[in-house]
Amino acid sequence: LTAATDPSVSAPTSPRPEYRKVGVIGAGAVGTSVCFSALMSGVADEVALYDIDEAKVRAEVLDLAHGTAFTAAHTMTGGADPAVLSGSSVVVITAGAKQKPGQTRLDLAEANVAILRSLVPTVQEHAPDALLVLVTNPVDVLTLVAQRISGLPAGRVIGSGTLLDTARLRWLLASRVGVHPRSVHAAVLGEHGDTEFPAWSTASVGPVPLLRWPSAAAPQFTRPDLDAIADSVTNAAYEVIQGKGATNHAIGVATNRLLESVFKDERAVLPVSTVLDGEHGLTDVALSLPSVVGRAGVLQVLETDLDAGEVRQLQASARALQEAAGSLGF
Ligand code: 2OP
Repeated sequence: LTAATDPSVSAPTSPRPEYRKVGVIGAGAVGTSVCFSALMSGVADEVALYDIDEAKVRAEVLDLAHGTAFTAAHTMTGGADPAVLSGSSVVVITAGAKQKPGQTRLDLAEANVAILRSLVPTVQEHAPDALLVLVTNPVDVLTLVAQRISGLPAGRVIGSGTLLDTARLRWLLASRVGVHPRSVHAAVLGEHGDTEFPAWSTASVGPVPLLRWPSAAAPQFTRPDLDAIADSVTNAAYEVIQGKGATNHAIGVATNRLLESVFKDERAVLPVSTVLDGEHGLTDVALSLPSVVGRAGVLQVLETDLDAGEVRQLQASARALQEAAGSLGF
């Protein structure tokens, strides 16, 4: 039966759902992994890739488009003209210099701030209503800089921050305790970089506080264990970069998780970076705290119950980031 032959079968009356387009800037390892994840997940209807290298971006767009018979999203576009970003409700910035083996993320600040000075106005010209998602490093410094240059409200400029480090932590803990990473509730906070720290005091496996896992009488993790795990998370990127020159797949899916919460207005709590407005006494710095992410961006930054040592680590992270941004005039 159809609506035409049976009035009890109603034709869809709702308008076509809003067309969802995500723009991605930078056709390198990270940008193309973000595109691939977005196509696979179908988080948006269209994925548009922009890069100034015409031959490279054309090749990457073709390669990704060739797979769209098998992906959830089916429209892959892009090119070397920033107009390809038009109509995007979110633009993900992955362009810029990347770490060479041994370099820290903060070593990239000067070069990548210079790129943002021209890139942010370009994005705003072509996608004026887009939420900005920063992935390029040093991501926290660049989140602050992009917010300052764009003049957008703090919640509309989001850095991927420690979402990736948190995934690394959850994976490590999950493999140690023998549960799914989804059942490990723990976050890495602060800088996405050398001063980051896991918030052990609030970590849990299911409902059991990690510090008392598997039981309060016989906790599995000693302080040296926790320190070793924290170091391993902080040094994870160095290890991967040493071996393959870049990290890309995990940041691709992590960014996609952030996009999902935005496009579906999920309001998931994710550790991402935004310019703070007095949370934990901090202003004029972007760093990661658990944040409620929805269609309008970061809707709320949550202040967690950190212990005294974690508060000191958060402050040290903020100081390092303020120094890095301050030395570049922000
Ligand atoms: C990462 O953590 C390098 O920031 C990049 O994988």
